[in-house]
Amino acid sequence: MSVDPNIEDEYTKVASVEDIPRGRGIAVDLNGIEVAVFNVNGEFHALSNRCPHQGAPLYKAGEEKINAEHTWTKSRGGVNEEEITVSCPWHLWELDIESGEHEVSGKCIGTFDVEVAEDDVFVRI
Ligand code: FES
Repeated sequence: MSVDPNIEDEYTKVASVEDIPRGRGIAVDLNGIEVAVFNVNGEFHALSNRCPHQGAPLYKAGEEKINAEHTWTKSRGGVNEEEITVSCPWHLWELDIESGEHEVSGKCIGTFDVEVAEDDVFVRI
């Protein structure tokens, strides 16, 4: 079975499914737009990689901090698979991964359509 030609025309392959473990994200550059792609409960979501607060790279959410033993959290933010949110790695603003919204501030970042075909993840910008 081959990938739907419409997907190949309109979307860009960004990774294989196995490249993005559950609860983690990657960053890709699509025509100069930095996009974070997260795996939440086995579903893939794409949004701007830059936090609307001060521009932190969201894809780092969940990474272990250097010198984590000296800080009050071991990781830089993280993905909440129940709430479908990502906490920013810098100051922990919690963003809705599906809408890109930060409810408290009312700020919002862009989201992008995602398709999965033949174990590859595609994003449309
Ligand atoms: S830069 Fe994301 S919460 Fe501050």
